[in-house]
Amino acid sequence: MDFSGNVRPADMERISTAESAQVFIDEAIKAVRKQVGDGKVLLALSGGVDSSVVAALLIKAIGKNLVCVHVNHGLLRKGEPEQVVRVFRDEMDANLVYVDAVDRFLDKLAGVDDPETKRKIIGAEFIRVFEEEARKLEGISFLAQGTIYPDIIESDGVKAHHNVGGLPEDLKFELVEPVKFLFKDEVRVVGKALGLPDNMVYRQPFPGPGLGVRCLGAITRDRLECVRESDAILREEFAKNGLEGKVWQYFTTVPDFRSTGIKDGKRTFEYPVIIRAVNTKDAMTATVENIPFDLLSHITDRILKEVKGVNRVCYDMSPKPCATIEWE
Ligand code: XMP
Repeated sequence: MDFSGNVRPADMERISTAESAQVFIDEAIKAVRKQVGDGKVLLALSGGVDSSVVAALLIKAIGKNLVCVHVNHGLLRKGEPEQVVRVFRDEMDANLVYVDAVDRFLDKLAGVDDPETKRKIIGAEFIRVFEEEARKLEGISFLAQGTIYPDIIESDGVKAHHNVGGLPEDLKFELVEPVKFLFKDEVRVVGKALGLPDNMVYRQPFPGPGLGVRCLGAITRDRLECVRESDAILREEFAKNGLEGKVWQYFTTVPDFRSTGIKDGKRTFEYPVIIRAVNTKDAMTATVENIPFDLLSHITDRILKEVKGVNRVCYDMSPKPCATIEWE
């Protein structure tokens, strides 16, 4: 298989079965070995589908010559950084550098309430942390990226949310992009064939700036925990009730204001949690999922009982347009 150029080879078969995935995996391993030889390859491993599939593929192809860097910026969902370490370091025996950059990101974001400025800070800080880690490592000449075919078709091959396009000139590596001719559904089939867990392979879309765009306004640690904990409850209940994989995207958002409530006969002044669940084909327009009322009530009860600092739960009924999917 030839990964040069930016056009999917006309004779490349669609990958839809375990057998076709295995044919691709064997070919991709050969191509990667031919490209990098004994060289070392660096990969920013977010735990998202694309970078996880690239990691699993490269571990098979070059083992410890792949160095995965997982940056925990504090804006990941509950359990995600732990899962990356468990799956890749413990189970696949990967060469994984785990960077705890939580304080660093949250300090940089303190007091910043403009959504686009928040995004820029998260992206720029990610590049800085990744660059620092890359400089600590020696003898690396390749950079692997989870570029997929829609990235090439839609945005000149730049994987925007991987944020590695902005590395300084003296850190320019040769790119290794083994899934760059695959569509998302094909990447998932390959991931499954590589033995990645279902909740990694079939996960719903998650924005690059993570929970940062769901902790509205200036991010505070207490509200970030409200977002993370309520999102975990929502995901758990959707999974238990057969909605995982059926609803395109679902999450919670916590605004930067409080409202009055009452608990144990005393007034409270706490945050609301807003639930959003939408369906779409291409994220350009979206409709609201009709969630059974009983399930919404149950999720509301759990959030009010289990998430500290929350006294109200709302369901966002707005389609896109007029609303966007995310609140920021
Ligand atoms: P909106 O809110 O624009 O979202 O209707 C459409 C889709 O894009 C995701 N999204 C992002 N993804 N970086 C990303 O990688 C971002 O900054 C970002 N903002 C929104 C959103 O989750 C939805 O799937």
